[in-house]
Amino acid sequence: MPRIALVGFGTVGRSVARILSDGDRDPLVLSHVCNRQVERKVVDWVPPAVAWTSDFEDVLRSDADVVVEVIGGLEPAASWIRRALEAGKSVVTANKQVMARAGAELMQVAADRRLHLLFEAAVAGGVPIIRGVREGLAGDRLQRVLGVLNGTCNYMLTRMEDGQVSFDDALREAQDRGYAEADPTADVDGGDAQAKLAILSAVGLGRRIAVDAIPLRSIRPVEPVDFQYARRLGCTIRQVSRAEVLDGAGTDVMASVQPMLVPVASPLARAEGSQNVVVVGGPHGGETAFRGFGAGGDPTAVAVVSDLEAIARTGSTAPRYRRPAAEAGVETDFEASQYLRFVIVDRPGIIASLAGVFLRHGLNIDSVLQEPDWPKSALPFVVTLEPCSSRVLQAALAEIETFDFHARPPIWMPILPRGERCS
Ligand SMILES: NC(=O)c1ccc[n+]([C@@H]2O[C@H](COP(=O)([O-])OP(=O)(O)OC[C@H]3O[C@@H](n4cnc5c(N)ncnc54)[C@H](OP(=O)(O)O)[C@@H]3O)[C@@H](O)[C@H]2O)c1
Repeated sequence: MPRIALVGFGTVGRSVARILSDGDRDPLVLSHVCNRQVERKVVDWVPPAVAWTSDFEDVLRSDADVVVEVIGGLEPAASWIRRALEAGKSVVTANKQVMARAGAELMQVAADRRLHLLFEAAVAGGVPIIRGVREGLAGDRLQRVLGVLNGTCNYMLTRMEDGQVSFDDALREAQDRGYAEADPTADVDGGDAQAKLAILSAVGLGRRIAVDAIPLRSIRPVEPVDFQYARRLGCTIRQVSRAEVLDGAGTDVMASVQPMLVPVASPLARAEGSQNVVVVGGPHGGETAFRGFGAGGDPTAVAVVSDLEAIARTGSTAPRYRRPAAEAGVETDFEASQYLRFVIVDRPGIIASLAGVFLRHGLNIDSVLQEPDWPKSALPFVVTLEPCSSRVLQAALAEIETFDFHARPPIWMPILPRGERCS
């Protein structure tokens, strides 16, 4: 009968306590709740036998078998997880930053003691992707992961598409609904998805990568007009997290988090509102998609409690999982068709100027799109390019940005191929 100490009584912690207190959770027993200044947190709907404490040392000294860490942040969370394991307690955490940055070391501490360290809630909230790839797809050797891993970005992008609202208005709506923090940097600039992708690379692809080595590009420059042009190309726009094992190349994994055009028929396009989607692919099983709510107290708590149920089922001896080898290198350049959107002060000769730069860099134009009825003082149009290296494209764009006809800086996004992987 695992006794559970819940450390952190915020959004996720309260939802975990609610599920554990609903009277039907045998054999899981909530024994402790720990939070700073815990007097503010005490509620009457948890069983009266639960001990409330502000002191984590009480948890370490207690008879709890499992510690649930849901305080968030890197420290003291990482140290507390380590100390709980050293005290002989299994750990369940929802903490992506800890698992992305200190996961390998903590997994070793757990493995040395044959204890559990489970973290289903750290990636894609209530979507069972960790267990899905570790157990359900253990028979394959996964080569790639593509995901919409940040529900805030996805909510904002779908609002910009459906309501043709600006980035700022979409962000305000996301904040009003509680999807976005007051400081949305980690969501919209990609840091949140970056940590989740690092975890998925280790667990799914067997490649451990340094979190900060994954290149990020923000969704901030995306405008409603981009969705109009994307539609003409049979696509929509998503913040896409992508990792792929490279065979025979100098480095091991290609990885990025950035806005991309994805075909409307793709599973990635079907992530609606604040949902998450993860698509994994392997040589034997082909593609498998997982979709659901990636955030929110209740869906995240479901993942935490599922980990607790797994511990109760398995008993005190943790299963051994395939462990990633030494840290892999990250390749940041990759070939893709490209979408370039310009907003210009119109005058003759602009296309010729652009074509001259593309020619010098060996880039081939695939199409030029221009919607009618825009003012000549701020005219948006789009050029798509045949597959090319993102490094070459950026060199060409650095030259293009020096031209004086821009009303706003150009933006570029790779286009996920149709009819191939994940489309
Ligand atoms: N919310 C989601 O949708 C979601 C989804 C997936 C994963 N997660 C992850 O789940 C974890 C918890 O997120 P959350 O949304 O529940 O956060 P939260 O609402 O801020 O709750 C954190 C709780 O921990 C307490 N706490 C923080 N630092 C502490 C410390 N040093 N000592 C003692 N108590 C401390 C906080 O107390 P105060 O009240 O005093 O601040 C608060 O009650 C994070 O790792 C997050 O990334 C969350």
